[in-house]
Order: sequence, then structure tokens, then C-alpha cells
Amino acid sequence: MTDPTRDSPASPASPARDSPGPALRARGVTLGYDRRIVVDGLDLSIERGTVTTLIGANGSGKSTVLSALGRLLAPVAGAVELDGQPLRSLPGKAVARRLAVLPQKPLTPSATTVRDLVSRGRHPHQSLLRPWTPADAAAIDDALDATGLRDLAGRDVGSLSGGQLQRAWLALVLAQQADVLLLDEPTTFLDLAHQLEILRLVRSINRRRGTTVVMVLHDLTLAARYSDRLVVVGAGRVLADGTPWEVLTPELLREAFDLDAVVLTDPTSGAPLVVPRDPDLRPAVDPAGEPGLADAGGATR
Ligand SMILES: Nc1ncnc2c1ncn2[C@@H]1O[C@H](COP(=O)(O)OP(=O)(O)OP(=O)(O)O)[C@@H](O)[C@H]1O
Ligand SMILES: [Mg+2]
Repeated sequence: MTDPTRDSPASPASPARDSPGPALRARGVTLGYDRRIVVDGLDLSIERGTVTTLIGANGSGKSTVLSALGRLLAPVAGAVELDGQPLRSLPGKAVARRLAVLPQKPLTPSATTVRDLVSRGRHPHQSLLRPWTPADAAAIDDALDATGLRDLAGRDVGSLSGGQLQRAWLALVLAQQADVLLLDEPTTFLDLAHQLEILRLVRSINRRRGTTVVMVLHDLTLAARYSDRLVVVGAGRVLADGTPWEVLTPELLREAFDLDAVVLTDPTSGAPLVVPRDPDLRPAVDPAGEPGLADAGGATR
């Protein structure tokens, strides 16, 4: 996989990127399905140019919040603002040029090649007055390269493995070249090496282009490594919000996940490393005599 931000010039600066205030803001947002309220009165500001990751237990409301931020789900009450403007007041295509969403369970069309799927990311940029241009083809090629899919571009999406399909959807979102990326579990079906590649790519796009990223991840250690900020969602409300070191405490892990864990320092990144305890497993002492967790002392919290 290659980094599209490395070789190609940065996408043209958008006026929104320089405007003051948060990129996205939820004000008193209440969300539900069939009159069942799942999120009640959520206030959340997403600062421009940052990587924010929503974490929380299954069913806690992460995808519901992300769907509302991406205009896929209309609030029952309150409003979501993009660059200070109510999302609902903006035309759909204008929103899609500024904000790209990768849902947790996208509906994959049938009889479509990988390249055709990825090319859908360019639709918001096209119109009768601005048909297909070489810039569209270049954006698609960059996205295919970035996700390591160039060799699979002609394959039918129905024939892809789970991880390949997930990368194809991510390529579509990257081809959109939006200022804000909302990614719901972008690495779930990927092997560890590909998880790392995708998260490094996302961070690189954030750092080089100033793209604002909000994602949902389950791997707390990877979330801590690649995020400026973690927002912990529990029962539809924000349980904690801050830097990875502020948020990932044993107390919070117990409250949000009912998890008994120690938090160490990841020696490779300096970020918090969450290690769950299992009462049935004894603290290990490796053959070289290195102390196990029980003796880790000051390294844990
Ligand atoms: N389309 C829907 N119709 C009805 N209820 C829904 C729908 N989508 C989600 N819910 C419910 O809303 C609540 C929050 O779901 P949500 O998908 O936001 O959780 P999540 O935190 O993303 O979970 P996961 O980690 O499993 O993806 C759950 O109780 C879920 O059953
Ligand atoms: Mg979800």
C-alpha cells in the first residue's frame, strides 16, 4: 500500500479548512429508532484537523452517533453542524464533497468492479457542467494504490475476501477527498498488518492534508496509538472524553466494558497499552526470568 499524500500534491485547500470553530458539532442531539431513544441530548465538538476515535461496548451507540454526524440518521431533536452550518440545511452533494462516511455495514452493489465501486466516491464532484475529468481518474488511482487494491481493480466486488472488500469501501471514501472522514470500524476484517497500514494511512492523511477524522475502533491499543482524542460512549452518552492517557484508566475500562485490565506503556509508541486480566491465567514469568505483569509495579496503572 502506498500513501497518496506522499507523492501527489495536497488537494486544493478548501475554504472550510481555514474557518474558525469545530469541523463538526452535535448540539443537544437525540437519536433513536422507531421512537426508541438510543442517544439523548448529545453535545460533542470535533476540532478541525484532529483524529477522534469513539470507543465503547457493543450496542453502546457509537454507530448511531457516527451516522448522525454523517447525516445518515436524522436527529429526533437537536442538530448537527458542519463548519457551523446545520447539516440538514445543506444540499446532499455539497455535504458529500466535504464529508465522507464509511458505514459499519455498507450495502455492496452486485456486478460491480472494484474500480467502479471506488469511482462512486467521485460522484459528489461531478455534474452536468463538470463531467468526468482526469482529476477524477487520478483520485481513484491514488485511492486504489493507497489501499493496495490496484491489482484487484478489475475484479467483481462479489469475489473479494472480507478484508479486500473493506479496503475497497475505504478506497471509495478516500477517493471522495473530503475534509472530514467518518469511518465506522474501518479495520474490523483486516489482519493485523493491514490494520496497521490502514491506520497509518488515515493518520498520514490527517497530518499531511489536515483532514479531520472521526472513527470507531474496538482495538483500544490501536485507538490509543492513532488518535488525538478518545470519546467513550456508554448507554448512548459520553462516559469520558480526552487524550488516550486521560481516558484509558482501569476504572473507565471497568465502567465502559466491564473489563478488568491493567494499562501499561506501549514501549514502541509511548501510548497506553490495555492488557485484560484473566483470573484463570497465572502471571507469566518468561524463561529469561523477566518479571510478569504481577511484578510490573510502576509500569502499570
Ligand atoms: N437500525 C436500527 N433499528 C433499531 N435499533 C437499532 C438500529 N441500529 C442500532 N440499533 C440499536 O441502537 C443501539 C445502539 O446501536 P449502535 O449500532 O449504535 O451500537 P454500537 O455502539 O455501534 O455497537 P457495535 O460495537 O456492536 O457496532 C443498540 O441497542 C442497537 O440494537
Ligand atoms: Mg457499531
